[in-house]
Amino acid sequence: MKGIILAGGTGSRLYPSTISVSKQLIPIYDKPMIYYPLSVLLIAGIKDILLITNAECVEQYKKLLGDGSSIGIKIEYQAQERPRGIAEAFILGEEFIGDDEVCLILGDNIFYGQGFQDCIDLAIGKKGKARIFGYPVNNPKSFGVVEFDDNNKVLSIEEKPDNPKSNYAVPGLYFYDSSVIEKAKLVKPSTRGELEISTINDMYLQEGKLDIVLLGRGLAWLDTGTPRGLLQASDFVSIVQERQGLYIACIEEIAWRNGWINNEQLEKIGKKLEKTDYGQYILRLLSYGDKKKRRNK
Ligand code: TTP
Repeated sequence: MKGIILAGGTGSRLYPSTISVSKQLIPIYDKPMIYYPLSVLLIAGIKDILLITNAECVEQYKKLLGDGSSIGIKIEYQAQERPRGIAEAFILGEEFIGDDEVCLILGDNIFYGQGFQDCIDLAIGKKGKARIFGYPVNNPKSFGVVEFDDNNKVLSIEEKPDNPKSNYAVPGLYFYDSSVIEKAKLVKPSTRGELEISTINDMYLQEGKLDIVLLGRGLAWLDTGTPRGLLQASDFVSIVQERQGLYIACIEEIAWRNGWINNEQLEKIGKKLEKTDYGQYILRLLSYGDKKKRRNK
């Protein structure tokens, strides 16, 4: 399975902060926003990743994440000339995806909570289909909205509807088979001029190949698109980390638990960051000696 992080866009709701800086490089509490979607791909066991962003930002992301080898993964980069829409990710990523299945995550989406790993595993298991998630929200009009019956059979998908048929939004995390590439090429720009991901999901629905996994109420899906959203997400991360002493989206920890890097490699990264709580946390992981919690991927 390949993974794509879409981290371009204009970030206009965060101006002036995002006039000269890519939105997904802005910190959420103690780490850049991009760590959060990246951590989701790592949790899904995906090591082969394409990061798509605006041409002028590619170098900044490369400086931050490199080729991924320091955490045992492979990251490639691709420029998106302008934000033509989420579905363009599959056209830009055609060669990268090849014949594989692909998981797309938007660069500004944060997921955290009990049962998330199970939801991901459930989605990964349903190969050959499109798999989206459903999350109850207060303001469905602002999202792609999914309607489903009592058996969780999807009935409709609508992008930012005036009259939502349910209060379940579709978060920016999607799993597809490789036919998504050809489907993306058929998508016509919407009235707002974007290649909409909802159109792709609707194509899968018409083929009877769209599955939904519902994210429970114990799970947080946070919005980081506005100054208030940024602040709330930062508060959330800081509160959970301080209370539990367990970090959210520590990509090095996940890679280590997955067995992709060894103790020495983890220690090297921790030492580099040792002036920060984040670095101290990484070094502490080694002293816990809780190898049994490591997952084999
Ligand atoms: P949006 O929130 O739709 O747009 P934005 O990030 O540019 O912000 P604003 O509305 O404030 O102008 O984008 C959601 C995510 O998808 C975000 O991480 C950026 C990314 N994205 C792209 O990388 N390319 C695109 O063409 C689009 C539409 C979004």
